[in-house]
Amino acid sequence: MNIVLGVSGSVAAYRAADLARELMRAGHSVRVCLTDSAQKFVTAALFEALTGQACLQDTFEEPDRGRMAHIDWARQADIVVVAPATANTIAKIAHGIGDDMLTTLVLATTAPLVVAPAMNPQMYASEATREAMTKLRERATWVVEPTDGDVACGEHGQGKLAAISQIVEAVQTVARRSKQLEGRKVLITSGPTQEPIDDVRFVSNRSSGKMGAALARAALLMGAEVTVVSGPARAALPLQANIVHVRTAQEMLEAGLAHCADANLIIGAAAVADYRPAVRHRGKIRRSAEPTTLELHPNPDIIAEIAKAAPDAITVGFAAEPSRSLDAARDKLARKGLYAIAANDVSRDGIGFDADQNSLRLITLDSPVVFDSGLMSKLGCALWLLDRVAK
Ligand SMILES: Cc1cc2nc3c(=O)[nH]c(=O)nc-3n(C[C@H](O)[C@H](O)[C@H](O)COP(=O)(O)O)c2cc1C
Repeated sequence: MNIVLGVSGSVAAYRAADLARELMRAGHSVRVCLTDSAQKFVTAALFEALTGQACLQDTFEEPDRGRMAHIDWARQADIVVVAPATANTIAKIAHGIGDDMLTTLVLATTAPLVVAPAMNPQMYASEATREAMTKLRERATWVVEPTDGDVACGEHGQGKLAAISQIVEAVQTVARRSKQLEGRKVLITSGPTQEPIDDVRFVSNRSSGKMGAALARAALLMGAEVTVVSGPARAALPLQANIVHVRTAQEMLEAGLAHCADANLIIGAAAVADYRPAVRHRGKIRRSAEPTTLELHPNPDIIAEIAKAAPDAITVGFAAEPSRSLDAARDKLARKGLYAIAANDVSRDGIGFDADQNSLRLITLDSPVVFDSGLMSKLGCALWLLDRVAK
């Protein structure tokens, strides 16, 4: 794999030389990008001698005249590793600042990112660094935690760059994961549906589309070709996915059926409205003093219909369950012809609907075991789920 190794200005910068060699030993091609501060500790000449490839240092440096190196490197990278990562570089990456070659390249790449922080323990424990680290984790950055120990400044605590073998292992895991769904087509339904009452009102639910967006991002990180059929959701979908916008359950069903034929994996993460108004009124129903009744008709069972139309695909449904009991989810699994159901307990605060975190329990057709993801970001849950299903 093509690895870009970003080295920032930490005392541990010298250890990046060993890391570059170990990554090459593991069969990767390694190109190094140094920040200005890193060059106070190590030189480009060192890494060029070790890797046999020119280093990048300055944003406006163009080894191939007329080609923007930060974009070229960003496109060619399969994985970007920042090790050691300073507090400063971590904060810049978290906030989308691109004021040097390394941070600009990280902004410009879609490759998975591995970050190995190294700093004074107080810097690592600071609120600013912790917030930046949370942001990185939410974007599925693989963090190789610094270890406890004596650091160069004489203090003791968590801040020492992790062992080189641990960083290499993380890169190998990310490399494997990025191929796990290579060549596979993944279809995801996402977000709520809106069932019109008249031209200005509708029946819907609280789904934000965040879980579907996280699944799309996770599938892309794992190398899949992704189509998302999305209802009107607030969550931003990754642009590398093929996105089909729909509004009603009927439209979602039609779009799902149109895209399921060549899908290998289908995930129904949409919160489809179970019912729609029997009649859609044109214009706007006028207010009156009389009570009124809205007649509702059941909507089609989208994931069951798609599972029937694509029998060769692995189909996974989501179930928003109001309790810990999995009886209803087990019943759905059999009734809808699915391979698995991911159940989330929507009675718990802070997870499920509209939240940034989730906790999934997965039941599958071929195992009596209930797999529990634990509480994680939705992206973490999505990677966990796809990893389980890909196995
Ligand atoms: C001797 C020395 C050692 C340093 N070690 C670290 C370190 O291990 N981690 C860190 O986050 N910053 C460290 N710094 C501070 C960074 O070099 C400084 O924040 C710099 O602006 C980082 O720039 P960069 O992120 O662009 O490489 C050190 C500074 C000095 C002078």
